[in-house]
Amino acid sequence: MSLQKKLDKFSRVELVNYHTPIEKLERFSKHLGRDVYIKRDDLTPIAFGGNKIRKLEFLLADALKVHADTLVTGGAIQSNHVRQTAAVAAKFGLGFWALLENPIDTKERNYLTNGNRLLLDLFGAKVKNVEELDNEQLDKTAEELKNEGKKPYVVPIGGSNALGALGYVRASLEIAHQSHQIGVDFTSVVVASGSAGTHAGLAVGLKSLLPNSELIGVTVSRKVEDQLPKVKLLSEQTAALLGIEEEIDINLWDEYFAPRYGEPNEKGLEAIKLLAELEGVLLDPVYTSKAVAGLIEGVDKNRFADSNGAILFVHTGGAPALFAYS
Ligand SMILES: Cc1ncc(COP(=O)(O)O)c(C=O)c1O
Repeated sequence: MSLQKKLDKFSRVELVNYHTPIEKLERFSKHLGRDVYIKRDDLTPIAFGGNKIRKLEFLLADALKVHADTLVTGGAIQSNHVRQTAAVAAKFGLGFWALLENPIDTKERNYLTNGNRLLLDLFGAKVKNVEELDNEQLDKTAEELKNEGKKPYVVPIGGSNALGALGYVRASLEIAHQSHQIGVDFTSVVVASGSAGTHAGLAVGLKSLLPNSELIGVTVSRKVEDQLPKVKLLSEQTAALLGIEEEIDINLWDEYFAPRYGEPNEKGLEAIKLLAELEGVLLDPVYTSKAVAGLIEGVDKNRFADSNGAILFVHTGGAPALFAYS
């Protein structure tokens, strides 16, 4: 059975009703001396877009199936995932609770009130500030809401369970189709790897659709030894959900996230400036800037498996956070 047919068995609420573009970054390619293309998942519809909209197509369908009336999720104060989930809840008339943590322990006014956090208020989100967020705290909040007569649905942190990762198996079909359409074989695909749903979904999808292409996840919060088991497990669970038995390879580069999650670094800031100046493309300070820093160094230090082929960067969004880090 084709991957498309396997995916079609899952309920999906259509939020991304077009293929996000793949474009060549002409001036950036010239600057690097290597062909680089970009998958514009920063342009998914709804509230400044980003990768979570794709995961939410499947998670929301599940929530609606069980007649949930409230979504509960969590993340950093500047979480793009929480912003996108809040917007989707608003669009479908659902209540929304967010548990937010401050991973960089900052008291900076912009971080605490601007960017994604400002948008949560516009969407009417109810917010609880917590220390060291985990999925159990989300379950606890859901229990409390149940006791108040609500029907909560917990969207895991980052939307990263196997069901959410299907959003990026589906994105893989789009990428393969567009690659054939434009006649470019990507020898490497680069994406930021955080809560791992995006990376895991792409790993499962691209394995069969673009078998000659390596997928590199640039970590944004963890060393390889901590991130690898997370991505491995989630990709296995995603493959199992689809009835795929093949072994899924996971490649991670972990040299670009220092000093820690949520804190920008020099190479990432340079990448933001470079893509803005050369292409008019906005990266974010927490995820995509670090992934592009990895891509640039990957070319400079010849780290990619193929030293000449075209590279595809999957832009997962996040630009609203720029206003929180000014
Ligand atoms: C802009 C952006 N890029 C990448 C990621 C990482 O995606 P994942 O959590 O699926 O690994 C996130 C996650 O929040 C994000 O907001």
